[in-house]
Amino acid sequence: MNRSKRSTIVAGNWKMYKTIEEAVDYVKELAPMVQESPVQVYIAVPFTAIKQVAEQTQGGKIIIGAQNMNDATEGAFTGEIAGRMLKDAGAQFVIIGHSERRHIFNEDNAFINRKVKRALADGLQPILCIGETLEEREAGKTEEVLETQLTQSLADINKEQMGNMIIAYEPVWAIGTGKTATPEQAQEIHQFCRGIIEKMYNKTIANKTVILYGGSVKPENAKALMDKPDIDGVLVGGASLKIESFSQIVNYQTVKIG
Ligand code: PGA
Repeated sequence: MNRSKRSTIVAGNWKMYKTIEEAVDYVKELAPMVQESPVQVYIAVPFTAIKQVAEQTQGGKIIIGAQNMNDATEGAFTGEIAGRMLKDAGAQFVIIGHSERRHIFNEDNAFINRKVKRALADGLQPILCIGETLEEREAGKTEEVLETQLTQSLADINKEQMGNMIIAYEPVWAIGTGKTATPEQAQEIHQFCRGIIEKMYNKTIANKTVILYGGSVKPENAKALMDKPDIDGVLVGGASLKIESFSQIVNYQTVKIG
């Protein structure tokens, strides 16, 4: 299938950075710089900034989301946040199963699967993250790990719901390390993941699913990655914190780097 039939998405993940004021100032300045871009622009901001930033960007190009949520609708879960609260604050999407959640906070595929289901039920678009560690890659287990993560995290997600899912392949060894998978390495994995989705659903769904790449994406490497046929966009951590680098990634088709 022609890649142009899938949306191209550049998503920022601010992690635990930016106060409300810093966040609002950022989107105010970014908005006119990305307004004309054919790319869809998503930013996952800290919980505390969602409401103000969503109000600031309302009706515009930038789509605001969250970085995590709990799998319950509500309850005695001190310190947790529910999807319906995120939606209420103005979030439209949520990152689920980021490697920092999997590895620092010990989230497993079963928990991530429950969160994906809850996010969909709450009207939030999930960005499901998957990725192998360096140890797994060196042991030749990359494909096995990704297949397990995909099948378990997407368990019971039906064909219709798949239409609202975004997948992000983020090799753990490339996150925040400055080491990026080469465009060829990433393309190979994206193609493999699309094959797994085809096996789980069908070819049409596999061809429609947006698969992002994440891990040390910068203005310098964004174009080469997104030019690959199965890489439908990028999930950007560090380089999304600065307007200059993030806007260059969004405008990767027109901006000349260096
Ligand atoms: P990075 O983070 O771009 O800083 O490597 C990516 C991510 O964690 O989503």
